[in-house]
Amino acid sequence: MNEEGTLYLPPPSSTIAGEVDSLFYFIFYASLVLFILVMSATAFFIFRYRRRGKKELTSGVAHNTRLEILWTIIPTILVFIVFIWGFKTYLKMNVVPSGAIEIKGTGQKWFWTFDYPNGANTVNDLIVPVGKPIKMLLSSQDVIHSFFVPDFRVKMDVLPNRYTLTWFEATKTGEFEIYCTEYCGKGHSEMLGKVIVKSELDYNSWLEESAMDIPEGMALEDAGAQLYQSKACVTCHSVDGTPGVAPSFKGRYGEMEALADGSQILVDENYLRESILNPQAKVVAGYQPVMPTYQGVLKNRQIDALIAYIKSLQD
Ligand code: CUA
Repeated sequence: MNEEGTLYLPPPSSTIAGEVDSLFYFIFYASLVLFILVMSATAFFIFRYRRRGKKELTSGVAHNTRLEILWTIIPTILVFIVFIWGFKTYLKMNVVPSGAIEIKGTGQKWFWTFDYPNGANTVNDLIVPVGKPIKMLLSSQDVIHSFFVPDFRVKMDVLPNRYTLTWFEATKTGEFEIYCTEYCGKGHSEMLGKVIVKSELDYNSWLEESAMDIPEGMALEDAGAQLYQSKACVTCHSVDGTPGVAPSFKGRYGEMEALADGSQILVDENYLRESILNPQAKVVAGYQPVMPTYQGVLKNRQIDALIAYIKSLQD
């Protein structure tokens, strides 16, 4: 298989990708050949049998049995090839191999959360080992999203109130984009994630480390700065004072904030904590109540770390 990627497809990076690509190219080239045949025949007949004079009559040939059987049988064979090939590949893509590592993926406006077997969780970064089947159990907190990893040829709708399943096995280490391919609102195009494929050794040590709330020996403030990136706060909150979908974190701590209901509140530890866990409780004036809750996503010490980081962002 082509390892570089082509005009149509990115480099195949999962066990199923080669098979999907072969079928795609079979359909593509079969269609191309037929397209050229049909179009050239049409052009040829238009020219060859054009009406030359006013009195010239249309040919009396009504049909040709041999030709008609031929152009029925050949496409039927092609359709059967595509069906059997496609069905076999479809089954492979849908039957999860035994012994797969199960990761729970959750879509919500507008980021992904991933829960690992040991209780660790990540936001937007899906971390997996190379050469191991990964079973993705997907669901949504709000509207329909869709989990798409082009390099793996994996795409699955993510629905509220039910689970969908897909699986993949990465064949190389590296980073691969995750897109949301179901329009889900204002932040849809920014609902981006990454599959980070590590060696099995690196994956296992990462898993061990991530079971800790914050990295050992790291200052709360620095851990908060990391969480700000890794838990996707960065998507909506700037740290340089630029207003975005949500208020910037810069210079917020210790100030009075005007709320949507007309009241005012002092931005202190308690307000920040409440806004992380129950964002709709006190919405800042001029902003939409779009922030999702981080209840269950952040542990207590991680919330402390984020607050410490926000406190450090003074003018
Ligand atoms: Cu989520 Cu589009």
